[in-house]
Amino acid sequence: MGEMKMHSKALEIGQYIPIHYHFQMLSDSDRMNSFKTAIDMAVKPGYKVAELGCGTGVMSYLAASKGAQVWSVEYNPELVSASRKFISENNMSDKVKIYHGDATNWLPPEPVDLVICEMLHSALLREKQVKVIEAFRKAHHARFGSIPKFMPNATLLAVQPVNQLYDFYGYYAPVPFFQSAYHNAVDCEALGDPAVYKIVDYDNASEESYKSKVSIVVNQDSELNALRFITKSLMSMDFKTGKTVDWHNQHLVLPLPYTYNVKAGQSINLSFDYRPGDSIDILQNSLSIKLKNPASTEKEFLIA
Ligand SMILES: C[S@@+](CC[C@H](N)C(=O)[O-])C[C@H]1O[C@@H](n2cnc3c(N)ncnc32)[C@H](O)[C@@H]1O
Repeated sequence: MGEMKMHSKALEIGQYIPIHYHFQMLSDSDRMNSFKTAIDMAVKPGYKVAELGCGTGVMSYLAASKGAQVWSVEYNPELVSASRKFISENNMSDKVKIYHGDATNWLPPEPVDLVICEMLHSALLREKQVKVIEAFRKAHHARFGSIPKFMPNATLLAVQPVNQLYDFYGYYAPVPFFQSAYHNAVDCEALGDPAVYKIVDYDNASEESYKSKVSIVVNQDSELNALRFITKSLMSMDFKTGKTVDWHNQHLVLPLPYTYNVKAGQSINLSFDYRPGDSIDILQNSLSIKLKNPASTEKEFLIA
């Protein structure tokens, strides 16, 4: 019983992010620059904006600074108090109103033009971006008869085979980890091009399964021991100029239970199945790999 409670608490932490993690988010210049550029591009004076999961309130503040009226919701009471205080200290209380509630059953008092939602996690695991946006989109349409724009507009998910070094002072420990998408990882070698397995369009996204089968051709003789999951969001698009603003979550690098010797030209057939918001374990436990050599004899490895 105690263990079950702890388990659900641990899962919640991926979702309702405590205040001491927000400094990292606020000082992540790749994340902040992408959101600020996208908000500057998308928000026009007089716009009505909703933010789902406003945390410290920073994105609501950026939207209000462009002349929008903003209604925001946050589930974690600690952050509701903090964001109300910060918004007031930044002289935006007349422009930003923060509600305490669950974004899956919340609506602003008026229809909005734009919804900002950053519950994005690598591979769209753990956080409830898709569930929250789907619920909001349906409720907004039912109440107001319209569907607002979403920021991000879409998220592209891809997977890539890699050789990852897992040597720590001579100690071999292949553990899952998050890798910056903005710096070249010298200890991680790509063994083929990334294969896109899902494009999530928030105008239509639903909590469906991302059951996927992809085939990737190996580009060099090496040892395959991990998969890199890539998560790139289209934050905003200027339809006149075609300019886009993008943001990469950290890559999720998942070690495989075996190391496979692979040869250039060989195909790696991968399959996996998970739903957005699931835990990393669900993705990891669903993985299977088939290696097809150039002579076409197929070897199957089930990973579970
Ligand atoms: C990744 S943080 C982003 C915070 C803020 N938007 C920012 O960009 O700095 C996601 C926030 O959503 C909140 N959250 C998660 N699920 C929620 C839900 N169902 N309803 C309301 N807030 C939620 C979390 O507590 C957290 O503050």
